[in-house]
Parts: sequence; C-alpha cells; structure tokens
Amino acid sequence: MFKVLISDPLSKEGIYPLNQANHISIEMAIDWSQEQLEDRIAEYDALLVRSQTQVTRNLIMKAHKLKIIGRAGVGVDNIDLDAATEYGIIVVNAPNGNTNSAAEHTMAMIMALSRKIPQAYLSLKNKHWDRKKYVGTELKNKTLGIIGLGRIGAEVAYRAKGQRMTIIAYDPFLTEDKAEKMDIRYGTVEDVLKDADFITIHTPLLKETRHLLNAEAFKLVKPGVQIINCARGGIIDEDALYQAIQSNQVAGAALDVFEEEPFYNNKLLELPEVIATPHLGASTFEAQESVAIDVSEDVIRFLAGDVVRHP
Ligand code: NAD
Ligand code: MLT
Repeated sequence: MFKVLISDPLSKEGIYPLNQANHISIEMAIDWSQEQLEDRIAEYDALLVRSQTQVTRNLIMKAHKLKIIGRAGVGVDNIDLDAATEYGIIVVNAPNGNTNSAAEHTMAMIMALSRKIPQAYLSLKNKHWDRKKYVGTELKNKTLGIIGLGRIGAEVAYRAKGQRMTIIAYDPFLTEDKAEKMDIRYGTVEDVLKDADFITIHTPLLKETRHLLNAEAFKLVKPGVQIINCARGGIIDEDALYQAIQSNQVAGAALDVFEEEPFYNNKLLELPEVIATPHLGASTFEAQESVAIDVSEDVIRFLAGDVVRHP
C-alpha cells in the first residue's frame, strides 16, 4: 500500500484516479502547518501540492520514504528541485492543464485594466456615479509586448490578435521565422520595453527572470505603458513598479502574482492604478480538474513502475 499526502486543495474530481487505485491510500493535510508537515512527511510515498505548500530542503530531508512530488500546476518554484534530486525524489508537474485558464485570466486582466473596470465598480459600490474619472484606452491598434512566448504567452498572443492588437514578443527560444509564422514581431527585451503599450509577462521565475522588470527596465518603457503579470511574483521588482507608477512612467498594472504570497498588506494595492487578483490565473473548475488528473495519473504510473509523462 502506498501513502499519498495532499497538502494543498486539489479538485475532488481530479484526484478520482488516486481514489480508485486500490494500492494507494490518500491523506489530506490542507490545514497542516509546516511543522506538522515536517513531523509527518516520513510516513508518505508521494506528496501532491499546488503552489502554497513550500517543499523546502528541510521538508525533503525528513521525507525518508518519499519517492515522488506532484505539482498540480506549471511553476515548480515552490519546490526545492536541487534537494529533491539530491534525495532521489522525482518531481512531476501538470504543464498543460491550466494554460487556457491562465491565458483567459490574462486577457480579463488586460481588459479590466484598460477600461478601469474594478476601480469604476468600487466607486459605484461606494455610491458615486463618476463617468469622467474612468475613461479608458482601447486595445485596438495598440502594441502588446509579451515577455515569454511559451504555452500561455502564445495563447495570449492569439487572443490579443482577436482584439486587433499588434504583438511584439521576446523569448530566448523564439526565432524570426517562428514569429513570422505566428504573425507577430520578434524583438529583444529592450524592443518590447520600448515599443509596447501593454506589457504582459509569461516566463517562469528563474535566476535570470527575477526582477526582469526593474528600475532600469521602467526607464526604457513608453511613458504610460500598462503592465500585466499573471506569471510569477518576483519577475517584477515591486518597489520599482511602485516608483514607476508614482512618477507616471507606468499608467497602471494588473497583478495576479506577488513577491510574497499570501499577503494581507502590499503597498502596490494602495495605488488606484493597480488592480489585482489573489493568484487566480488557474482557478477554474476545468483547469483544477485537469491539473489534478494529470499529476494523479503520473503518481499512479510512477508508483506502478511506469514512465511518467511530465517529469
Ligand atoms: P512555458 O514553459 O510554456 O513558457 C515559459 C516561456 O518563458 C518559455 O517559452 C521560455 O523560453 C520563456 N523564458 C524563459 N526565460 C525567459 C527569459 N529570460 N525571457 C523571456 N522568456 C523566457 O510556461 P507557461 O505554461 O506558459 O507558464 C508561464 C508562467 O506562468 C510560469 O511562471 C507559470 O508558473 C505561470 N502560471 C501562472 C498561473 C497563475 O495562476 N497566475 C497559472 C499558470 C501558469
Ligand atoms: C501554476 O504555476 O500553475 C500556477 O501558479 C497555478 C497554480 O497552481 O496556482
């Protein structure tokens, strides 16, 4: 019998394959503290997480039976991959299941930002009928700069073209040829910063992408640019963004992800130009079911000695 621990909320339908496997027992640890996790982790063969559980070196060192960690989502920056590798634990993720939801959320953020919908809604809720304050900008004929043209970035490009936007993108794996086929402009990070009216980020959080949008980058942008981040907190230097908005270099920002999560106090949210959601990019029934099925199936495969699909 293999024991699987689930430490973040995962879709019930998504973990159905694990429930059905008669050689697997599941235990839920949704409200366990990090200390509780560390105390009990040695009992389990597999650990399933979303983005909240911090799978640290300390936790991994205590996981004497652990064979596999499943991340129900894309980003594995909450898992110490070096420690997992060192201790012979495989990490699998679910790279495809939430692409569509994240792209849709990004589009929703771009549109809400450009038309100041959250601000106008709040004002109306507070009994103000103010039509002058909430004049927006059209997306048509504006340039959307995409940094990171992977699964989500490409889906955003496709949708933004439907809004009649022009796209310029930077990705180290993008070639001029591929860009031409996608009918988008290929540029360097500097080209994207200089030419875009809206900049959306879709890279992983890596050493190379930490604070990719920093004070230097904000000096290069078109004054009045609007910034969207539905990828990872930490890719934008939040202090630099705050200053850039204060100085009107950046007109507004739509943020789904933050340097510190969860938080109850972030000074960016004091700025009326900033709209935000609490890391909801993948929070749809469809995406949550899909990512949970993907990792559950990989855990079952691995525990049965088969090859996993998303190592
Ligand atoms: P992906 O791997 O398909 O795409 C990432 C792209 O970034 C790749 O094409 C890669 O070449 C590119 N890249 C890497 N380093 C770069 C750099 N220095 N500059 C520019 N591009 C660079 O990943 P994805 O599925 O498209 O996910 C993108 C991001 O979105 C990840 O950080 C993921 O964790 C995040 N995400 C967030 C949510 C959410 O809930 N907000 C949901 C899903 C994914
Ligand atoms: C991801 O990387 O997949 C996202 O952060 C979505 C999530 O799991 O919350």
